[in-house]
Amino acid sequence: MYKVSEKPLVGAAEIKARVAELASEIALSFDYDILLSALTGAYMFTADLSRELAKVQGARAQQKKIAFIKASSYGNSTESSGKLQVFGLERLDFQNKRVLVIDDIADSGNTLLGLVGMLRERGACDVRTCVLLNKQERRTVDFKADFVGFEIANEFVVGYGLDCADNYRFLPEIWTLQEVN
Ligand code: IMP
Ligand code: MG
Repeated sequence: MYKVSEKPLVGAAEIKARVAELASEIALSFDYDILLSALTGAYMFTADLSRELAKVQGARAQQKKIAFIKASSYGNSTESSGKLQVFGLERLDFQNKRVLVIDDIADSGNTLLGLVGMLRERGACDVRTCVLLNKQERRTVDFKADFVGFEIANEFVVGYGLDCADNYRFLPEIWTLQEVN
């Protein structure tokens, strides 16, 4: 059994402000062609970030595509199954494209390292990554995201798209998940 912490780790207003800042950072430094969002965890972050990007990109926003893939390495628990599965890449064209990959969190780093490799193999000329959360302490591979919303400690978090067995995703804040007996 699990329950969320008494107070959010990151509140909704703090998330909103940081997402707007991230959009400005991205718009200044990376003129991507495709924003590629890794479902399911990144759905809420992607919805908010893409709207903030549209505000700062102005007319340039009309040239940009948004696409979704399904990446998963988690089973129905808080521990990774370790095996990366990616669905939906085959129907997209990455040849000579600049791709901005959006994910909810970089944990071991396996998902994003694997995904970046797959996009390069498919001909992407520049691949950069953006995560809302980074758990540096949990890293097991050599991966560094280009854009990071918040650095967090080694705790399992839920809300704002992040889940535990599909629960808690809808919460507008980020919460720490605690095990209860
Ligand atoms: P990685 O491949 O170990 O970096 O894991 C990345 C994926 O695991 C993320 O896209 C999330 O879907 C999931 N994940 C990692 N840590 C958490 C967490 O604290 N809460 C919810 N999902 C997590
Ligand atoms: Mg994920």
